Amino acid sequence: MMVRNFIDTNDFTKQEILDIIRLGITLKKCINVGYYPPLLKNKTLGMIFEQTSTRTRVSFETAMAQLGGHAQYLAPGQIQLGVHESIEDTGKVLSRLVDILVARVNRHMTIVDLANSSTIPVINGMSDYNHPTQEIGDVITMVEHLPPGKKLEDCKVVFVGDATQVCASLCFITTKLGMHFVQFGPKGYQLKDHHRSIAEANCKISGGSYLITEDTNEALQDADFVYTDVWYGLYDAELSEKERLAVFYPKYQVNRELIAKANPHVKFMHCLPATRGEEVTDEVLDAPYSIAWDQAGNRLTAMRALLVYLLRPQEDQQYKRDAAKAELDRVLAEIM
Ligand code: CP
Repeated sequence: MMVRNFIDTNDFTKQEILDIIRLGITLKKCINVGYYPPLLKNKTLGMIFEQTSTRTRVSFETAMAQLGGHAQYLAPGQIQLGVHESIEDTGKVLSRLVDILVARVNRHMTIVDLANSSTIPVINGMSDYNHPTQEIGDVITMVEHLPPGKKLEDCKVVFVGDATQVCASLCFITTKLGMHFVQFGPKGYQLKDHHRSIAEANCKISGGSYLITEDTNEALQDADFVYTDVWYGLYDAELSEKERLAVFYPKYQVNRELIAKANPHVKFMHCLPATRGEEVTDEVLDAPYSIAWDQAGNRLTAMRALLVYLLRPQEDQQYKRDAAKAELDRVLAEIM
């Protein structure tokens, strides 16, 4: 059986991403009117979290419950991982106990090793390199809030601030889908050469574009979506408040003045959690043009679609099921 993982945006083709988005939007419509298709009945998701999470954890658990499946939260300190058992052994064991895994990890190699040692699909719930499930939900949110008369490919998406994992994944998915991506951030905190190579390769195929700049007007002009993330950086390398304000404030704060430089129909986006008063002001995060809360809701839309897509039945599954049922009936008839 062919096992598919979702470790990085490029694990899927453009068409597959569009299919997952369509599936997510359709499932959302079903559930919003009270129809909960049992597409994940009897399926179990193992959720390995090396870090805290609100949106990612809750949306995966809710998605499994809504579609008839079950999720097991495997928090730090609750399983042997990293203490008494290697990631590879954990992958081999959990492949025999659950149907699919999601992991939020401190180091990207951990999710790669987990996927390589598992025989079930593995989803990246965020690493120090990227956050691909976030971006499926974000593009769904953009589709729901497209500017009048525009398609996804016509949209300019401007990420303001630090080149976080969310910035990297946003760059990957927008360029893959043929959109126009900009990172507006200071030197030293911009996407690196290896990110740029991926964006460039994506744009060659998709017709999209990417730009990394410190120029405010060039970045914001005609922006359809303005997106930001926290400034404190990664895990054990977090910047202190004093350090981060010195780098990013005030130029890279998304406030009313900065938003005014974008298109009049601009929408504001944030993956959350937000540090209010730092990368974004209250008046922007709580404005009518802020779609950050819809983004949070669409984490669930994305997770439902990803889980169903990765666990969809294989072609020969019905035949195998019929054969298994016939064998069980035979054994029961003989021993009862
Ligand atoms: N945006 C996001 O991944 O949120 P959590 O860290 O709460 O999962």
